[in-house]
Amino acid sequence: MSERIAVCPGSFDPITMGHLDIITRAAAMFDKIIVVVMNNEKKSYTFTPQERVEMIKKCISEQNNVQVDMYDGLLADYAAQHNACAIIKGLRAMSDFEYEFQMALTNKKLNPGVETLFLTTSAQNMYLSSSMVKQIAGMGGDVTDFVPEVIHDDILNRILSKN
Ligand code: PNS
Repeated sequence: MSERIAVCPGSFDPITMGHLDIITRAAAMFDKIIVVVMNNEKKSYTFTPQERVEMIKKCISEQNNVQVDMYDGLLADYAAQHNACAIIKGLRAMSDFEYEFQMALTNKKLNPGVETLFLTTSAQNMYLSSSMVKQIAGMGGDVTDFVPEVIHDDILNRILSKN
């Protein structure tokens, strides 16, 4: 049987405990997960794509079936090029839903061979976001519980050097 491949796309600016939880749970359901750093035209970024990829690599180093990549194009095209059967997204509050639903339908139209699957966020990550992490860190707050320990100092150094 062919490999079941899923992509986990996102901005990951930076990756949080919430993202890592979704990636880890997805990795238990598929043969291979490709975490792909992409461009959301509605956002401006703090970390470069390369920095975001490097941080994700540090966080998933012990997960053998998870790879990291970056792509500056359409998610539907990326999924087709990599034979992915699924796009995995995490859903937090209802406020995520309309936007995610729109993206899922658009991606299905562009690439009918790929399904979008939503995993509900774990309760402790319900209100966690990368922008919240950056705001707290930038004001000297403690983000220990919000980001993987292995990249905690990278995030602080980068954000505090910008202030
Ligand atoms: O973490 P984010 O910012 O919510 O991720 C959104 C992202 C990057 C997955 C989305 O903006 C995206 O898929 N960008 C790639 C370009 C694309 O395919 N756009 C059409 C989506 S309907």
